[in-house]
Amino acid sequence: MGSICLVLVLMLHLSLSFSAAVPPSSHLCLPHQGAALLQFKKSISIDNSCRDREYPKTESWKRSIDCCSWEGIKCDKLTGHVIGVDLSRSCLTGSLYASANNSLFRLHTLCWLDLSFNGLNGSTLENTSSLFHFHGLRRLNLAYNDFDGTISSELFSQLVSLTHLNLSATGFFGLIPRQISLLSSLVSLDLSVDNDTTFTTFDGQGFDMLARNLTKLRYLVLDGVDMSDVALTSFLNLTSSLQRLSLYRCQLDGEFPTQVFQLPNLKYIDLSVNENLRGYLPKTNWGSGLEFLGVEYCGFRGLIPPSFGNLTRIVFIYLSENLFEGQIPDVFGNLTKLTYLACSSCNLSGPIPNSIFDLVSLTSLDLSSNKLSGGVDPDMLSKLTSLENLDLSNNSLLSLSTSGSDVNYSFPRLESVNFSSCSVRKFPSFFRTSKLEYLDLSNNMISGGISKWEAEGWEALQELYLSNNFLTSLEQFPGQSLSILDLHSNLLEGPILSTCLNLQTPISAWWQEFLISDNKLTGNVPSSICNWTSLEILDLSRNSLSGSIPECLGNLSQNLIIMNLQMNNFSGKIPDFFANDVLTNLFLNDNRLEGLVPPSLANSTSLKILNLGNNMVTDRFPHRLASLPNLQVLILRSNRFHGPLPHSITSSNDSALRMIDLSGNVFSGPLHTKLFQGLRAMREKPLYLDDDAYYSYNGEYYYFSVNVTTKSSEIELLKTTSIFVSVDLSNNQFSGQIPEEVGQLISLQMLNFSYNNFTGPIPASFGNLVALESLDLSSNKLEGRIPSQMTKLTFLEVLNLSENKLFGPIPHGNQFGTFENDSYRGNLGLCGLPLSKQCGNRGEAEPTAPSVVEHEDSQVPFWQVVMMGYGSGVVLGLSLGYIVFTTGRPWWLVRMVERDLQYKFTAWIRRRKSRRI
Ligand SMILES: *[C@@H]1O[C@H](CO)[C@@H](O)[C@H](O)[C@H]1NC(C)=O
Ligand SMILES: *[C@@H]1O[C@H](CO)[C@@H](O)[C@H](O)[C@H]1NC(C)=O
Ligand SMILES: *[C@@H]1O[C@H](CO)[C@@H](O)[C@H](O)[C@H]1NC(C)=O
Ligand SMILES: *[C@@H]1O[C@H](CO)[C@@H](O)[C@H](O)[C@H]1NC(C)=O
Ligand SMILES: *[C@@H]1O[C@H](CO)[C@@H](O)[C@H](O)[C@H]1NC(C)=O
Ligand SMILES: *[C@@H]1O[C@H](CO)[C@@H](O)[C@H](O)[C@H]1NC(C)=O
Ligand SMILES: *[C@@H]1O[C@H](CO)[C@@H](O)[C@H](O)[C@H]1NC(C)=O
Repeated sequence: MGSICLVLVLMLHLSLSFSAAVPPSSHLCLPHQGAALLQFKKSISIDNSCRDREYPKTESWKRSIDCCSWEGIKCDKLTGHVIGVDLSRSCLTGSLYASANNSLFRLHTLCWLDLSFNGLNGSTLENTSSLFHFHGLRRLNLAYNDFDGTISSELFSQLVSLTHLNLSATGFFGLIPRQISLLSSLVSLDLSVDNDTTFTTFDGQGFDMLARNLTKLRYLVLDGVDMSDVALTSFLNLTSSLQRLSLYRCQLDGEFPTQVFQLPNLKYIDLSVNENLRGYLPKTNWGSGLEFLGVEYCGFRGLIPPSFGNLTRIVFIYLSENLFEGQIPDVFGNLTKLTYLACSSCNLSGPIPNSIFDLVSLTSLDLSSNKLSGGVDPDMLSKLTSLENLDLSNNSLLSLSTSGSDVNYSFPRLESVNFSSCSVRKFPSFFRTSKLEYLDLSNNMISGGISKWEAEGWEALQELYLSNNFLTSLEQFPGQSLSILDLHSNLLEGPILSTCLNLQTPISAWWQEFLISDNKLTGNVPSSICNWTSLEILDLSRNSLSGSIPECLGNLSQNLIIMNLQMNNFSGKIPDFFANDVLTNLFLNDNRLEGLVPPSLANSTSLKILNLGNNMVTDRFPHRLASLPNLQVLILRSNRFHGPLPHSITSSNDSALRMIDLSGNVFSGPLHTKLFQGLRAMREKPLYLDDDAYYSYNGEYYYFSVNVTTKSSEIELLKTTSIFVSVDLSNNQFSGQIPEEVGQLISLQMLNFSYNNFTGPIPASFGNLVALESLDLSSNKLEGRIPSQMTKLTFLEVLNLSENKLFGPIPHGNQFGTFENDSYRGNLGLCGLPLSKQCGNRGEAEPTAPSVVEHEDSQVPFWQVVMMGYGSGVVLGLSLGYIVFTTGRPWWLVRMVERDLQYKFTAWIRRRKSRRI
């Protein structure tokens, strides 16, 4: 705070000359103070970009106006001394040091604030002391500005009269000076940091002195300050006058003293988001005036004490994400002011106590993700007449009773209900209430149908989630202004789309997401669906829909981000989806579509995933499409694509493609040496990928899947395509040699060239494909030896070289010790283990593994091989390792490569988790 001082000293000097020039006036403001403030205004910068939100109070500071009338300045009414400076949210920026390098000012380390407001002594004051009879500055508020630098200890050592100090979100960082404990008059102290990027720290002793010395404190707000060094016993010394204690996200560490909850005047205590904080709630003697209790995301244990019933003034209770146990005590009868009760993920069991349903002021009740059991019925719920948000989701034993007379209940304020993942068995119509906007009943056991009557009304309903139930029929889509309807994974059957869409007037122009995948729908998709011009996600996949895809869906695509029609019986041509620049995922695979790839698709510049697999498309390779800048996954497998590939798959040299599947077509001709040029994503070492990012929509992951073939079985990858890097050209009529350049695709994990007419040798450059897990070159006409360089492929899990014309010894070492005869079947010239045919003694040295397997570019690869026993899926003893796992083979290879460790490991785990075999 030397900075403030310097500015302030400067101001003092100027203020002296100012006051000499201007004759004493009847202004309430003391002229030298006015001048000093003007000088302050001059020296501090304004961030003009913040003006749309905030306003620089200093702009109202004008010489012609009495300084006591300036915005943010408060004077003593009798004496005119400035006693308060409030420059919060004033767009102030930069350093408080105006002339930090000026040694003249450096001599005067007294603060201007001091001089002007406190009248402290000092040689410069001698001849002006009659001018300055200041009372001390009482209130200083610099909150929400953007200063540089640390907090100066002088701010505290000089301004000892402060009663209110607010330095929250000022941009200051670093250690909070211990001199803060000199401010023994402080009533209110706010040093909170609202921002993850600035770091302010309290050291243990500093806070301990503060707790002992600031005996008048009523408000203490330190949100975001790093207090990991503070001994929690220091809190025992906090003054009993404390009313507000806010320590949100302070990295508190240790056992919190229960007595703090019992401070007699406490009204507000927030300890939330201190994951290393442990403790218990008090069994008795709460501060009886408590209005706010927040301990979310901490490690509080034990029972929720019955003494809760004594908190008769409490308005907010936030207890979520702790390690409580037992039942919720039935003591809420007296908490008539309680409006917020959150205890999600608290490990609680048993029934929801009846007294909770007496809380007439309750607007939000969140008891989700516990082990609560029993039933909730509309009788109970309807007593909560103020309720707006109800979340009881993820209590698998909790049911919702419904009966025929439910319609008579009203929930006048209810806006959001989440009953997902409970034991609800019947669609509850009693929530059909005029304000309800959000209803989630997914993952329950709701069976039967939804009648037209039940689906009517819901005037305000915007989001309805009914996925993963047993719904069999639907007479009408519920709601009148839905934007999201999720019905996936039910048992819906019949031509629901045509019946429901035609029954309904197209009120649904607001629809943004419509998901009805994984049902048993049949019939056509009516063109009335095209009236949903706001649609962003359309998922009709995994049904038995037939007929052609409505032409007009092209018009729909204005806002469409994800279109999933895969796994139906659609036939006919693919409509010309005209280009929009938001479509990212298009799945049309596993239908009976024919004709050409619609040319307009090449204008969809945002496209990331295109799956046209398993159709009857008859076209040449869509080169323009493959050159789209964001395309990552291109799947054309099992169609009737034909002709040669272009010289290069993509005309871009910065392609994001990481998965190319052209298998099962009639492509022919040789592979040009530049074919894989430009595939930047495959030529780079795997990086940390923001995988899944593009499938995430509105914060939620959108489910999709892509099939790839590794080994001989199909594996379904869920949500993981972005980390799977593969090229599959199998089952075509390619000929000629495999280009050496394939070896440059170093992030490849799967390569399949099987069932073609490739000739010539296996390129030695394959030894560079260090990420490769599966290599299939079978059923070609490859000749020559297996390059010994391939022993470098230490992640190789599957190798198939069968049915070729290879000869010579099979290399030894690393993964080659794990492949069996099948990998080499049908190559009459091969010899050596595991084949029974011995290699002849023709003077050829048997290829051996290189003695050190270097990961290219790794600085100091350090690795080790550990044999870890048998297993097929359980990760044991996994402290540092990256595991290569060979299914059904009696060993695990644990290898650590310093640099790639993290990425490889997480990628591997994700892939394992999400593969459904
Ligand atoms: C506590 O405050 C008093 C002034 O009230 C001051 O003299 C003393 O030095 C302070 N103690 C500490 C440890 O800061
Ligand atoms: C946090 O503060 C820094 C520096 O003041 C600023 O650049 C950044 O945008 C802020 N971040 C947020 C999330 O407010
Ligand atoms: C601080 O707390 C300790 C332990 O509770 C106590 O011994 C000490 O007297 C307290 N000091 C003050 C100033 O209250
Ligand atoms: C509630 O407060 C009363 C009076 O203050 C007290 O006697 C009683 O023990 C308290 N109950 C609980 C459970 O703490
Ligand atoms: C509610 O308040 C009454 C009267 O103050 C008291 O007798 C009763 O024990 C309280 N109930 C609970 C659950 O604390
Ligand atoms: C779209 O809605 C209009 C009325 O808004 C209707 O006349 C038209 O038939 C609808 N189009 C389709 C394809 O259903
Ligand atoms: C693609 O966009 C270009 C320019 O916007 C346009 O001229 C062309 O007709 C579009 N092509 C198709 C097939 O829609």
